Amino acid sequence: MILDLQRVTKRFGDRDRIVTAIRDVSLSLLEDEIFALIGESGSGKSTLAELIVGLQKPTEGRVVWHWDGSGQAAADRRRQVQLVFQNPDRSMNPYWKVKEIVAEPLLLQRVERSEAFRLAGELLERVRLPRELLERRPSECSGGQKQRIAIARALSMSPALLIADEITSALDPTTERDILNLLLALKREQSMSILYITHRLETIPGFADRLAVMKDGAVVEEGYTESVLGAPNSDYTRALLDACSYS
Ligand SMILES: Nc1ncnc2c1ncn2[C@@H]1O[C@H](COP(=O)(O)OP(=O)(O)O)[C@@H](O)[C@H]1O
Ligand SMILES: [Mg+2]
Repeated sequence: MILDLQRVTKRFGDRDRIVTAIRDVSLSLLEDEIFALIGESGSGKSTLAELIVGLQKPTEGRVVWHWDGSGQAAADRRRQVQLVFQNPDRSMNPYWKVKEIVAEPLLLQRVERSEAFRLAGELLERVRLPRELLERRPSECSGGQKQRIAIARALSMSPALLIADEITSALDPTTERDILNLLLALKREQSMSILYITHRLETIPGFADRLAVMKDGAVVEEGYTESVLGAPNSDYTRALLDACSYS
């Protein structure tokens, strides 16, 4: 197990206007698995990701890390979990070259400049992008390329956990499939777990090992992908399945 959430609740706001974004969620993530978190917009998926990364603190409950490096300082731990977002333009400086974007986390770790740029080239190859892109700017790259660049940048820190929050939601279905295949290949090539967040249940079969379905901040169903999708326990999961093309 790399981490577990123990009865985590997260509320935002004050007395007059309280939003309960996460309600009493208990989940564990295992080594080298792809775990899909599925739910409609507003169900609490991004808040859960922020709680895991440490960008938010639980109102109740605990997030407990279990991996080998769990005794490390908080800064080291933060590096071991990397978050990639839906909109790459918001996390990329448009004036920077791709090599600077990919190398930035390394440079912040005081890796020497020429070595960081050399590693950036290797990282681009890992995400199946041509090295020529190193000298380009984000505006010269497609949406799919930008998400690969964001993934390459995250991989530079050799994370134990990669969290992908709706990273394919702005992409066409073919590019989405390519990115999912890339994540599958990366997980095979290196030891890493992936928390894949999506509102698109149809992308999950053949991709995620396990999944959890969220609704209004609570987990309504959890289990191995085949068993949940083959025989869902909750009416809500069944309704989601009926609403998408998967059958
Ligand atoms: N920083 C915040 N302050 C107040 N409310 C928030 C904040 N972040 C999220 N929420 C609320 O928590 C709920 C869950 O949001 P979110 O985690 O973004 O859902 P999802 O990612 O599934 O769309 C929503 O009602 C949202 O408005
Ligand atoms: Mg979200």
